[in-house]
Order: sequence, then structure tokens, then C-alpha cells
Amino acid sequence: VSDGVATDDRLTAAAFEPYDPFIHTSASNVYEIYAALREHHPVYYSEARNCWCLTRHADVQAASRNLKAFSNRPGVALDAPNAYGRGDFLDDDPPHHDVLRNIVRPFFTPKVITMLASEIRNRTMEILAELRECGSADLAADFAIKLPIWVISRLLGTPEADDADIQRMVLALEVRTVGDPDVPPIATAALKELHEYLADLAKEKRRRPDDRVMSGVVAAAAAGELEADEVVGMASILFSAGAETTYALLGNVLAHLADTPEALHSLRADMSPASVEATIEESLRFENPVQYSARTATEATEWHGVEIPSGARTLLVWAAGSRDPSRWERPDEFDIHRTSQLRHMAFGEGIHFCLGGPLARLEARIALPLFLETFSDYDIRTRKRRPNHMVRGWDELGASLVVNPAS
Ligand code: HEM
Repeated sequence: VSDGVATDDRLTAAAFEPYDPFIHTSASNVYEIYAALREHHPVYYSEARNCWCLTRHADVQAASRNLKAFSNRPGVALDAPNAYGRGDFLDDDPPHHDVLRNIVRPFFTPKVITMLASEIRNRTMEILAELRECGSADLAADFAIKLPIWVISRLLGTPEADDADIQRMVLALEVRTVGDPDVPPIATAALKELHEYLADLAKEKRRRPDDRVMSGVVAAAAAGELEADEVVGMASILFSAGAETTYALLGNVLAHLADTPEALHSLRADMSPASVEATIEESLRFENPVQYSARTATEATEWHGVEIPSGARTLLVWAAGSRDPSRWERPDEFDIHRTSQLRHMAFGEGIHFCLGGPLARLEARIALPLFLETFSDYDIRTRKRRPNHMVRGWDELGASLVVNPAS
């Protein structure tokens, strides 16, 4: 092996299963595949999807910071590039990316987000109160999705009566078939419906503005800071990025704790904010909800002696970088006691670093301890992975719940 380039014939020929993001994002062996890529094929070409893949922490970081050589414009999703249309600043480059991000940035700063804490807490208690009555629940459908939908909807400024519709649209938007590059009709229809809904919402906010994000975006459009036809695309990325990822995080952390009884036991013994925070960060590191993002090469670059040609679609596999053994000891262990401050890649890197990071963290830091205080025990009996090409989470987490009478 020279500098980790693909020269280990035993592995390439025998054990290595060709990486296909449309199959492996929801596969049980995804981390074994990433390990093989990181070690033996750090610059991997996926024939199945005609894209290059970077998996080492240092490489993913370097590529995400190299704005000269890699563009977001052709879209960060492989299967539905630019689906949200103009205004989605994740699928954009500077300077326009920065103009658009700056319009909504003030709504998502840690200081502003912290002011939502008591509302988020109250809503979490309401959701948990419904679960208390049941004895069993689907922690994905009855818990993990509900809070992020409620939070992002209140932030954007939609009426609470629309939450169920919004949840339905956001979930349908993400439906995929494992291995199939085509976006299914249910997802295409949901996107159309969401766009129409958001266009109506924009009209309503023009008539009756409030202090929420959608009114802010509409006002910015009226002031000429963005084009009128960018409003819906911007709102779409906020809804989708805000809900499906946090949904995945909440389900993942409950599943990791159920699967690692020592960690659960230890967290229950010390539910201090620091300990809760460490658990959530470890869950984010261990299982990045967004497994990768695509870039498009605007010039040829060389990585470990291999050229990624100009024009090539290139995946930055955050989830593989977050388990790089050169950064973390025992990277495949879920260890809530890690003291390492080295940054995981769950929220990306560089100028597109997740705008909603503080919000997602706040939701999880409130929801996790409240859940554990409400239920003195829980056991996940059935589970179904979400068959998505990019996001790794659970569609179903059937659990039995033991109510803590003191809660
Ligand atoms: C655990 C939850 C979340 C995870 C794992 C996550 C992950 C990510 C990642 C990896 C990126 C970078 C993508 C890239 O560079 O290609 C990103 C960007 C983004 N996220 Fe999040 N996200 C989460 C929650 C949220 C929330 C709650 C919001 C709220 C609106 C949000 C809004 C955004 C936006 C707008 C961008 C694009 C930023 C830009 O292009 O400048 N995310 N997120």
C-alpha cells in the first residue's frame, strides 16, 4: 500500500463490496465499507453512480474548504440535484450563497435560538405526555419527527393546524427506493405540494407579516435582497434541512443508547448538561444523519496520486470522516465519555456549515433528558431503516416504555 492508494489486491478483489451511496446509506454494513474506502481507496470512483468519493477526515475537510476547485451549484444531492430551485443556498456558491445565507442567519444564531428553549421544552412535555398513556410507541413516528416539525414550523411561522400536513409532505419528500436512482412519484408530488404551500404562505406573510422567518424572507425580497422567485426555494431548504435531519438525530440517539446499555446506565446516573451534550455529540459523530454531500469539481485536483477530473461529481463522505481512526481512538465504538475535542463532521465543514446546528443541538439537549426522565426504561423491539440515499435514520422504532412514576 502506497499512501493508502488502492493497491491491496486481496481486499479489492475479494472482500470489498463496491460502494454505492444509493444502497449503502441505509445498509447495515455501511461503516465496514467506509473503513475499506478510507484505508484502501481514499479516492474512490463509484461506477454505479459516476462519482468520486473522499472518505478520510483530512481529505473531506480539505475538499469542503476548497471553494475554488469544488462547487455546490450543480447540487449537493446526487439523486435530486437543485430540486428546491433558486433560493436554496446550499446548492449555491459565493457570492450569492453568502447574500442568501445572511438574510436568514440572524434567525438562527445561538443567542436567538436559546430563547426558544422554554417553548421547545413545553412542546416536548406535551408529546411525552401523549406517550405516557400508551406503554409502547413508535419512537420515530410518535416522538422523533414530531418535535423538529413543530419547531421549524413555528420558526418559519406556519399555523399549528398545518403541522400534520407539513410532516406528511416533509416525510414524503424523502421517500426513496434503495438502489434506485429515480425519485419516486410520491416524493415528486410532495415537493410540488410543498412549493405551492410555501408560495401561498409567502403571499399570506406579505399581507400579514409577523416576526418569523418567512416574513423576514418576504421582506428581504421586497427590499430587493433576493429575487421573488427565490423565496420558496429558500423556505424549502429550511423546512427540509430543519426537519428530516433532526428527526434522524433523535431516533439515532435513542437507538444507540438502547443498543449500548452501559452508556444508557451511565447517562442516567449523570444527566448533567455536560453529559447530555457529550452523548448527543457522540451520537452525531457515530452516525452522521447526513452521510455525505456532493460537490462538483470545477478543476482537476490530485489526491494521493489520483486525479479527480474537472467536472466530476465528488462525494464528501462526512460519515466516513467522522469515524476516521487517525482522529478518534476506537472510532466504531459509541463512547459517550470521549474527551476528544476534535470536530466530527455531522454538520459539514466550511462556508456551508450547518446553519441549524445550534437549533438541532438545543432540541436534542432538551428532548433527550426529558425522555429519559419520563421513562425509567425503554426497549426497542422492532426497527425499520429509512430507505434514503443520503440521510441515515429510522422510519420505525417500535419500543416498549416503562413510565417513571416520579416524573
Ligand atoms: C442533527 C441535525 C442536522 C444535521 C446533521 C445537519 C447537517 C447539515 C450538513 C452536513 C450541512 C452541510 C451540507 C453541505 O455542506 O453540503 C448542513 C447545512 C445546512 N443546514 Fe443542517 N443539519 C441539521 C439540522 C439543521 C436544522 C435544524 C436546520 C434549520 C433550518 C438546518 C439548516 C441547514 C441549512 C440552511 C444548511 C445550508 C447552509 C449553507 O449552505 O450555508 N440544519 N446541515
